[in-house]
Amino acid sequence: MEKDIDKILKNLRLSEKASLLSGGDFWQTEAVERLNIPAIFLVDGPHGVRYVADRDHDDPAKKATCFPTAVNLAASWDLNLIKKAAAALAVEAKARGVDVLLGPGINIKRSPLGGRNFEYFSEDPFLSAELAVEFIKTVQKNGVGTSLKHYVANNQEYKRFSIDAQIDERPLREIYLAAFEKVIKEANPWTVMAAYNQINGDFATENDYLLQDILRDQWGYDNLVVSDWWAVHNRVKALKAGLDLEMPGADPVNDQKVIDAVQAGELKEEVVDQAVRRILELILKTQKKAKKDFKLPVEEHHQLAKEIAGETIVLLKNQGPLLPLTAAKLADKESILVVGELAQKPSYQGIGSSQVNPTRLDNHYQALEDKFGEELELHYTPGYNSEAEPGENESLKEKALRVAENKDYVIIYAGLPEQAEAEGYDRQDMQLPKEQNQLIKELAAVNPNIIVILNNGSAVDLRQWLDKVSAVIEAGLPGQAGASALADIIAGEINPSAKLAESYPLKLEDNPSYLNFPGSSDSVRYGEGIYIGYRYYDKRKMEVLFPFGYGLSYTEFAYRALEAPDYLAEGDKLKIKILIENTGQFKGKEIIQLYLSQQNPSLARPPKELKGFGKIELEPGEKEWLELELDYQDLAYYHPQAGWIVESDRFKIMIGASSREIKFTEDIEVESSFVLKDLTAKSPFEDWLADPLGEKAVKEVLTEAEIEEIGFLKAWPLYRMHFFTPEQVSFEEIEEILDIYENN
Ligand code: BGC
Repeated sequence: MEKDIDKILKNLRLSEKASLLSGGDFWQTEAVERLNIPAIFLVDGPHGVRYVADRDHDDPAKKATCFPTAVNLAASWDLNLIKKAAAALAVEAKARGVDVLLGPGINIKRSPLGGRNFEYFSEDPFLSAELAVEFIKTVQKNGVGTSLKHYVANNQEYKRFSIDAQIDERPLREIYLAAFEKVIKEANPWTVMAAYNQINGDFATENDYLLQDILRDQWGYDNLVVSDWWAVHNRVKALKAGLDLEMPGADPVNDQKVIDAVQAGELKEEVVDQAVRRILELILKTQKKAKKDFKLPVEEHHQLAKEIAGETIVLLKNQGPLLPLTAAKLADKESILVVGELAQKPSYQGIGSSQVNPTRLDNHYQALEDKFGEELELHYTPGYNSEAEPGENESLKEKALRVAENKDYVIIYAGLPEQAEAEGYDRQDMQLPKEQNQLIKELAAVNPNIIVILNNGSAVDLRQWLDKVSAVIEAGLPGQAGASALADIIAGEINPSAKLAESYPLKLEDNPSYLNFPGSSDSVRYGEGIYIGYRYYDKRKMEVLFPFGYGLSYTEFAYRALEAPDYLAEGDKLKIKILIENTGQFKGKEIIQLYLSQQNPSLARPPKELKGFGKIELEPGEKEWLELELDYQDLAYYHPQAGWIVESDRFKIMIGASSREIKFTEDIEVESSFVLKDLTAKSPFEDWLADPLGEKAVKEVLTEAEIEEIGFLKAWPLYRMHFFTPEQVSFEEIEEILDIYENN
């Protein structure tokens, strides 16, 4: 393909340009053979390459490694781990000839019920952004594009194709756009995917404010914007707003609309050219690195998927401590009972466009058998059946209770049914299936050594039995090798280090979006504003089941010292050091979190906002300093009139093992030259001084000829009285009003 885009643009016919603006088929852009312009492949992710060769004939996706889903990756809080996953995904993409991987998804988890929560990182924009930046940079460095999605406010599945998310400016910027802003500026994704929903009355694909003013003008994004699949409603409006590529393809109607609009003079050809230029630039980028000769390293990537999964599984409870089941602990033990159909049929990813056809799939029971089978007797009983006939679950439970009585340990695999973690559907509540809750409760009454393994992609309500069982592990949706990683964790060969990237409220009613989720049939009001997740629970000083950033380890960490400045000059970086010591018996990793609060902000701010984190690995007895660095801009909040501002004030730095376990606090005096004037109040004379005779104002509404016809002396008071703008009133209507005045 020719490298000079200006030259290509000159040679392209209008019809060819229009054809390039929409896909050629489900996964490809349109080729223009006459000019040697190839089609490129855009394919789902993001936790595996979902390459479907022939969508029209319902082909299954080609096999690919199913890495842990986003909910798991986020729980690792580990940028190096994200790099490893992203590099492997790039290799798999290249092996399949894929040019752009459709991910990562960084929408904020507004409600635990969101059907795609498992595909998103966190309730916190800072954490989401940090992870996505690393993901995107790595995939793209390896010659494959990414698509940052879904821009923006795709926080629910209910009416996802049409719902109007009504969000005030501050939460929009500070919560929902914040992660996109950071990622756009720091990682420059090759594409951004515009969401299905509307935001404040305009579809994301046609939203001039979001696409043009914010994304392009304010953030300087100049790569390609692609629509979510079938998300374009008005092609010409979308194009004018800055949406370049409509996907999927094969809709000649819209191509024709573009041609017609240009020919009718309603759409400038430069707008078309600009979009075509971005598509050509993307195609050129993807041609730079050869994609041939890449083989799918099936075994190596399966091992990597296991290694990654091991870092993403959260130990929620470990009374005793019951875990890990080390050889020493098992020396005088005889048997383990494994319960739950999920032990044989693992739940490892969600349903929808992100679903991967795995190269292999590890099985929990088998992994436990491999690990413990030589020393102990392993028994299995299903305990429940998610598709049970009436009465069946009762007898499965009774059987499990009987077998459990004399076993040394009982490991129960519980979790959400497949259809509960699905694109297109939100959950109805935060409960696990009834039969599972009942089973766990009753098993805990017959055996004291119960270990519950949870498989779910978003917060669940565990109150029915949490205080009755000894150990709980949140495995999330850990990908195809999750079962083996989990067996290593149970045996203590991996020391769990992950921490929740979302709060687990006690109950659904506690969640701040409860009153407004998922809204009415046409709109949803984000009434909780900036108070999302822990920002809200902290503000209300509410008890939660598990706080944001929480997770246990088999070892203990002592936070020994903090070194932080007590003053920060404008524009400087904030550098702090924390001394951590492993005071327990196991080698382990600790995730250290840095939260910020501002003492006297002009607008209320949450009591705590995550602004930094780090992970450190220590041998027993070892101690080390962890260094964290904050950009001055990280201290900012969004003021609807002034934009992102840092105010001169006293700030509190909090270093925590979780958002609710703060180990150190330190006050810092921050200097800023910014002064917040009363931006809303305008001098009553300001307009008048600028236009004392009202000439300018009237001329904005009426043409010279019209003013002449009415006479300026009549037009001016009319304008003043009615505050006309051209959108509100036509000249004919003004004449009618004049008539009424004159006849009264
Ligand atoms: C999803 C996107 C996905 C696209 C292509 C849409 O329904 O919302 O996340 O990338 O389909 O499969």
